Amino acid sequence: MKKIFSGVQPTGTVTLGNYIGAFRQFTTLQHEYDCIFCIVDQHAITVTQDRLELRRNIRSLAALYLAVGIDPKKAILFIQSEVPAHAQAGWMMQCISYIGELERMTQFKDKSTGKDGVSASLLTYPPLMAADIILYQTDIVPVGDDQKQHVELTRDLAERFNKRYNDVLTIPEIRLPKNGARIKSLQDPMKKMSKSDPNKKSTITLLDTPKEIEKKIKSAVTDSEGIVAFDVDNKPGVSNLLTIEAALTGVSIEDLVTKYNNVGYGDFKASVANAVIDHLKPIQQRYEELLASDELDVILDEGAIKAHAVASKTLKKMENAMGLGRKR
Ligand code: TYM
Repeated sequence: MKKIFSGVQPTGTVTLGNYIGAFRQFTTLQHEYDCIFCIVDQHAITVTQDRLELRRNIRSLAALYLAVGIDPKKAILFIQSEVPAHAQAGWMMQCISYIGELERMTQFKDKSTGKDGVSASLLTYPPLMAADIILYQTDIVPVGDDQKQHVELTRDLAERFNKRYNDVLTIPEIRLPKNGARIKSLQDPMKKMSKSDPNKKSTITLLDTPKEIEKKIKSAVTDSEGIVAFDVDNKPGVSNLLTIEAALTGVSIEDLVTKYNNVGYGDFKASVANAVIDHLKPIQQRYEELLASDELDVILDEGAIKAHAVASKTLKKMENAMGLGRKR
């Protein structure tokens, strides 16, 4: 069976962008593939984190993975730092990465340009991500559009490793959702919706209350035309809201545009807000139950054991290929 791997950073609460771009794919794919999902806390510390908040975010993210429908009987869920092979293989991937290619990553440029005290790990973030993926001999990586460049680099690094040492790594393919690969900020629909956006009105999180959701969608930036139509270049704000409703309800964008024919932006926004609220309600209920139970720790313990078993096999193959240590 083909293998799937993906990860999410435990930094801030999961947004509707993360949900539509990544989690929705995960819940569908777990029925057809061998899936491994990760809470990438070692990626999170590439920028300074508050210790207690990081701990809370790790737990919260684990509960959200399960609340959106990841089934631990079908998929492995684990925390990156609990499987040391990630840091070990991450070092090996760094050793075959070129500084130039890492400096060309748009996420590195966005996070470092004009900043003081940029950590070395922001630059070496993609080789660690490559390690995450190749350790599980991953065939498919379901992510949102913003991770495309990182997955392409992973392919390059895996091919380089195989050519330079020995043919031990699977070359992964990216998988983007058909609809909603890049959900936009509600306040600046030219930018992606991002967990780290300091303007909280830009993002909807999976844990926002119905009131917050209503307020945020009501104040979403649109245009002055007053016509609900899908046109990403000229009507990015309206198109973003249509994309969100289509992704959550399964109704096609064309059918939504027909539904909103002659409907003003006020009513349109209220209707999108309702669709979001209805969709998130059961997820939020399940989330609260999970946080209050001991289930989480059992699932994460089992996940780490299973992930370690797979990852350590690949790690050994990589070490042997590179000549590290003694042959085992
Ligand atoms: P992260 O934590 O930023 O985002 C998690 C997932 O959400 C997707 N995403 C979006 N999709 C659509 N619209 C948006 N506005 C939006 N914002 C985020 C991301 O593409 C991602 O799929 N580097 C990764 C974490 C990672 C990883 C990995 C992913 C580490 N190792 C190995 C895959 C495989 C990241 O920062 O995702």
